[in-house]
Amino acid sequence: MIHSRIAATGSYLPAKVVSNSDLEKLVDTSDEWIRTRTGIERRHIAADGEGTVDMAEHAARRAIEAAGLKPSDIDFIAFGTTTPDLVFPNCGVLLQQRLGCLGGPAFSLETACAGFLYALSIADKYVRSGEARRALVVGAERLSSITDWTDRTTAILFADGAGAVVLEPSPTAGILSTHLHADGQYKDLLYCSRPGEGSGVNRQPRIVMSGSEVFKVAVTRLGQSVDEALAANGLDRSALDWLVPHQANIRIIQAIARRLELPMEKVILTIQDHGNTSAASVPLALDAAVRDGRIRRGELLLLEAFGGGFTWGSALVRY
Ligand code: COA
Repeated sequence: MIHSRIAATGSYLPAKVVSNSDLEKLVDTSDEWIRTRTGIERRHIAADGEGTVDMAEHAARRAIEAAGLKPSDIDFIAFGTTTPDLVFPNCGVLLQQRLGCLGGPAFSLETACAGFLYALSIADKYVRSGEARRALVVGAERLSSITDWTDRTTAILFADGAGAVVLEPSPTAGILSTHLHADGQYKDLLYCSRPGEGSGVNRQPRIVMSGSEVFKVAVTRLGQSVDEALAANGLDRSALDWLVPHQANIRIIQAIARRLELPMEKVILTIQDHGNTSAASVPLALDAAVRDGRIRRGELLLLEAFGGGFTWGSALVRY
């Protein structure tokens, strides 16, 4: 039986760093409020002209190099993003052209902050079926282009970046399970407006969010999701080595860690430096902890994410 495993990870953050103090100059907020309510201290924002696929290409090349592969070895691209550079061709195709690995399937999917987990789940099934051999799974976002920089309830949260993993076939299971969910009845609590309906001065598409309502549903659904992942694998929470959560709010992450009885030292946290990068947040956190040596081969990781829709999901991974 063929399984899939993560061969390697990669990520990219734009050079420009915006601190909470910088945001104090844009909206009526404070460093203290942002830190205590969200855990965010700073975030990276893309340069003018730096697009989602530009960032994804850096992350993808780093993952491919770390896997000891060439870009031409990639035969499948699944790309999670809600901030595509073009309506079409999709970001997966644009990335495929940059990497020069033409011919295999390449697509993007827009399941907001759960985008990477949705992409990972699909790629895992293709590798396990034998239809793909080296699958590139990407989460990349340029959320700064849909952020209303006059709205203090959202401008403090969202940021830019990209993360990627390469999946390859393996005789032993790396991806132990993925579980995906969506509940469209919550569509009005977190969405991106259409052009002309935005709240920004130029009436461009903008993120609209009911923060405290999103918070409550996120804690409930993510709690159910981590329980589901462990139960499906017949594992106790004590088996986990690391939680690699979506980096939306430190208080949501702490609530899930408490449910898993995991000390915060066993939770990969990048929110303080990255903010909420939506589909990029989980692969960015994963790559940070792989590269600094915290996450090691053979360890058991629980990845989870929750986003607009609502969409949410988990992946239990033997790294
Ligand atoms: N700076 C200062 N004050 C702010 C503020 C800011 N940036 N944003 C909101 N406030 C104010 C509100 O106006 C409100 O003031 P009031 O009490 O005078 O009415 C007060 O702070 C509390 O607002 P509330 O929305 O209840 O705060 P909160 O504790 O729920 O924190 C979020 C707000 C957005 C940080 C939090 O709800 C959250 O993270 N929700 C989840 C969002 C999320 O994760 N979205 C992405 C999902 S992938």
